[in-house]
Amino acid sequence: MSVPFCDLAMQNLPLRDEMVAAFDHALSTSEFTVGDQTDHFEEQFAQMVGAQCAVAVSNGTDAIYLSLLAQGIGAGDEVIVPALTFTATAATVEWCGARPIFADINDTGCICPQSCASLITPRTRAIIPVHLYGQPAAMDEIMVLAEQHHLCVIEDASQSHLARFQNQYCGTFGSAATFSFYPSKNLSACGEGGIVVTNNLSLAEKIRGLRSWSGGTHSGVNARMHGLQAAILSIKLPHLPAWNKERRQVAHAYHKRLNKMDIPTIRFPRLREDVFHVFNVLAILAEHRTNYIAALEKEGIGYRIHYAQPLPLQECFIHYQHKKGEFPVAELFASQEISLPIFPEMTTEQIDTVCGVLQKATIN
Ligand SMILES: Cc1ncc(COP(=O)(O)O)c(C=O)c1O
Repeated sequence: MSVPFCDLAMQNLPLRDEMVAAFDHALSTSEFTVGDQTDHFEEQFAQMVGAQCAVAVSNGTDAIYLSLLAQGIGAGDEVIVPALTFTATAATVEWCGARPIFADINDTGCICPQSCASLITPRTRAIIPVHLYGQPAAMDEIMVLAEQHHLCVIEDASQSHLARFQNQYCGTFGSAATFSFYPSKNLSACGEGGIVVTNNLSLAEKIRGLRSWSGGTHSGVNARMHGLQAAILSIKLPHLPAWNKERRQVAHAYHKRLNKMDIPTIRFPRLREDVFHVFNVLAILAEHRTNYIAALEKEGIGYRIHYAQPLPLQECFIHYQHKKGEFPVAELFASQEISLPIFPEMTTEQIDTVCGVLQKATIN
């Protein structure tokens, strides 16, 4: 039995009638860009994560870029980012004219607070922790560090919708937080989308201006969310808590089965006990990864690698001249991580199939 990496049709088709009605509404009102639909979604989303306000934007990348820009981060500034994350977390820092400073991760996959502390200089303006795979970063230690050194914290919560750190929602710790609604995310648009949440009303207003070509001293950009995507996200948002619960059940089943199989070459990133992980990604760390990948491919099991190279060693950041060995934990994850299929509707049979393929690949 083949198993897809994720199955969006299973999630979207049961909501088809509501989505078609939203499309009809958009056709009759011609509300294609920001307007009532985006306002409504912003209110709904802010309320769900417990933030004062939200600004809906075109994608998760622009959400980070505008959050940095609106806080005046630019030339001469340094922003600490994890060495293992999606390119956008660091690329947006460069878009502002600032320099990304790469911190190693720890065994959870998230940014290591001790590594951050060692990188702070008089030029440091901000830290961008990423709640990688859906597991919150060490927000207690990061916030202490930020307060001590008067730094902004912008949470990149692209993979962690409704995740909680010690019972507080991700997205409510820093001065701003950003989410992506890319199709593979826990809450996804039928296309692209993103949002910034913040408790700072004037910051929200600045971002609102910047997303639509009115940034004051900055020209701003076109980073508006489409009205139709906002309408679709409003339809899907009430289902998010249940989808997260199902993802957690799937993740639990994977952990139980693979731990029971006791495969010495496979382990999981460390799971913190004081967080509510939402498993956007089901990551395993596998020695001899190529063997496992060959087996998954042969059996038609969808997989991804998040991420094959730490950012500072990627070609696009080569100008910082980082060397292999500088980011030992990120490098280990990059060489061993495999993302297994996970989606709310995944069946026990599908989970068993994936685990069986891994077990068989170990024996062979
Ligand atoms: C950690 C992280 N940051 C930023 C982004 C960028 O989001 P988008 O693809 O919506 O621009 C993503 C999306 O994959 C992500 O996973």
